[in-house]
Amino acid sequence: MLNEALPGEIRFATVVGAGLMGRRIAGVLARGGADVIVHDARVESIDEAVEVARAMAADSTNPGTVTGSDDLAVAVANADYITEAIIEDVEAKASLIEIISALNDHAIIATNTSVLPVTSIAARATNPERVVGTHWWNPPDLIPIVEVVKGEHTSITVMQRTVALLEHLGKLAVWVERDVPGFVGNRLQHALWREAIALVSEGVCDAETVDLVCRNTIGLRLAQMGPIETADYVGLDLTRAIHDAVLPSLNTDGVANPLLTTMIERGDLGAKSGRGFIEWPAGRREERAAALAAHVSSQLPT
Ligand SMILES: NC(=O)c1ccc[n+]([C@@H]2O[C@H](COP(=O)([O-])OP(=O)(O)OC[C@H]3O[C@@H](n4cnc5c(N)ncnc54)[C@H](O)[C@@H]3O)[C@@H](O)[C@H]2O)c1
Repeated sequence: MLNEALPGEIRFATVVGAGLMGRRIAGVLARGGADVIVHDARVESIDEAVEVARAMAADSTNPGTVTGSDDLAVAVANADYITEAIIEDVEAKASLIEIISALNDHAIIATNTSVLPVTSIAARATNPERVVGTHWWNPPDLIPIVEVVKGEHTSITVMQRTVALLEHLGKLAVWVERDVPGFVGNRLQHALWREAIALVSEGVCDAETVDLVCRNTIGLRLAQMGPIETADYVGLDLTRAIHDAVLPSLNTDGVANPLLTTMIERGDLGAKSGRGFIEWPAGRREERAAALAAHVSSQLPT
């Protein structure tokens, strides 16, 4: 039986996988009043996560508690809402959820995945109707959207209660009706990246030009007006005419661009190796991360 107490009174939540995402999701839950237990396969991660999540909840008027447990069975036993945020691997997530669902028969079980099929992740759960996809974006406490994804077997009630819980936590929860790889946000994002990389690999322009054009055209607009509203705004007749002219030559490869493989084999992995499409001298990654965080914060409603 699902616990019916959610979400007005989320009481007990568990986060399994307390890395970059999990520890901050734990903080959001505790800030919203849930008593949270964090669990991770790495004991050091548990301690770090408890510290981060407690600090995040400290400014709440009604914070929940945050504790850690290195015993998965103890961590999930009393939870009303369990979210996993372990590595992005279908098999690892599916076996974890199989175990969790056997340890707790009443909680909603959310899988935090960026692109993986929720249905496959839920496949071995004792009752897959209570497994739901929740795609939080990084950093999860700052980026407003959480995509709530209906797997093939996810029940409507579980979808509704997950949306209500996330709204209670102050998130902008959106309902994704079909479980397609990448859901909504990452499909849009990677359609753009595919064309961006194709423009470079086909010699249309250099890598710097792609980003310069993107940042100073559509990048300036998108936070205010999305592609669907923009299509209406410019007119659907014009949109169709542009599509007729442009779509036939857009990249439609169903695999990653071979240029990526060439660069990876050369050891050019991007910021982490010092070179990718552009040069990454020491300090540039940190500088860009800070600039990005400052920009995102400045765009958010206060
Ligand atoms: N990093 C991002 O920008 C981002 C954004 C959105 C979604 N996500 C998704 O969130 C999930 C977590 O990503 P992350 O960046 O926080 O990863 P991470 O590597 O920082 O953290 C993963 C944690 O899971 C733990 N772990 C691994 N297997 C485990 C298991 N079986 N049981 C318990 N703990 C286990 C690891 O020890 C680690 O602490 C992934 O599915 C990822 O795709 C990440």
